Amino acid sequence: MPSTVLTKLDNLKTGMVVAKEVESNYGATFFTPGMIIDAEAIKRLKRLGVKSIVVYQEDIELKQEQLAPISERYEYKIDEMEGIFHSIEKGHKLDFQGVKDIVDELVKIEENEDIYTLLAKIYSADRYTYAHSLNVGLFSMMTGKWLKMPEKEVKLLTYAGFLHDIGKARIPNKILNKAGPLSNKEFNIMKRHTVYGYDLVKNCLFISEKVARAVLTHHERNNGTGYPLGLKGDQIPLYAKIIGIIDTYDAMSSDRIYQSHKVPFEVLDTLRKERDGSLDISLVNLIVEKLIYYFSGRKVELTNGKVGEVIFINPEKPLYPIIKVEGSFYDLYRSDLKIKDVII
Ligand SMILES: [Fe+2]
Repeated sequence: MPSTVLTKLDNLKTGMVVAKEVESNYGATFFTPGMIIDAEAIKRLKRLGVKSIVVYQEDIELKQEQLAPISERYEYKIDEMEGIFHSIEKGHKLDFQGVKDIVDELVKIEENEDIYTLLAKIYSADRYTYAHSLNVGLFSMMTGKWLKMPEKEVKLLTYAGFLHDIGKARIPNKILNKAGPLSNKEFNIMKRHTVYGYDLVKNCLFISEKVARAVLTHHERNNGTGYPLGLKGDQIPLYAKIIGIIDTYDAMSSDRIYQSHKVPFEVLDTLRKERDGSLDISLVNLIVEKLIYYFSGRKVELTNGKVGEVIFINPEKPLYPIIKVEGSFYDLYRSDLKIKDVII
């Protein structure tokens, strides 16, 4: 067994391996043993106010690629996703190897890494579809892990999340990137991306039928208001229910041609207040509670222009966290102040 050493944050180097859990004051685990420290992890530890952590003394040889910051690796995967979309636009079949390479990389991302920063990065509208696909894939994978699904299921769910909108490669660009609401006729064409996506995935012999069905049904809604089949409740596959929630979360959190992004606290609040029964409320609750963990310790800008740190979020009232500003604590539930944005 390699020996361990308590290391100050200033002496922490990329490539070191965490030997002892790092926990928040509220008992949430931020870093688990075996996790490799990279530049993002050091930034996160600083943000969390951690002064030192226990790492293994022995140097572990790592490939350069593994040491590249996760955000750079993620950006690169968005480019690869764009390539897969373009290839389908040209009439080619779904490139399974390309998809597998991306998913294999995604499933390596650990629960304790800074997923929020990856998800929250806002891309230009023309890259939205690709970044959104990757975000939904990553987020689906996390949800599978949170639900303690077997590894094989997590992988299938990741495929489904990642490919959910692949049928958009067959939708004309003038509809896909229209600056403004779609007409009824255009919306009916847009809805076909579910069926196109199903055909593309189904014709790819290496991908499970379960993934194809999730792609087909990701816009179905619990109360039967979705499309293309108008399924209800238990008729909708679990993968599709999960993707439906994540799709909604990521769409609200992103800048679109016709709408700017909402801050995550607002998005979580909107999801929680979902009262029309279109989303599975127990899955919504799980996702909201898990996401809240990623916002603790974040720096946020308030509507008075001051910058503070998120200290506590009540899952029942995600819109009103407790914020520490210059040594004082503000309970936003009892204040006129609001969060303007999260600082990444
Ligand atoms: Fe979709």
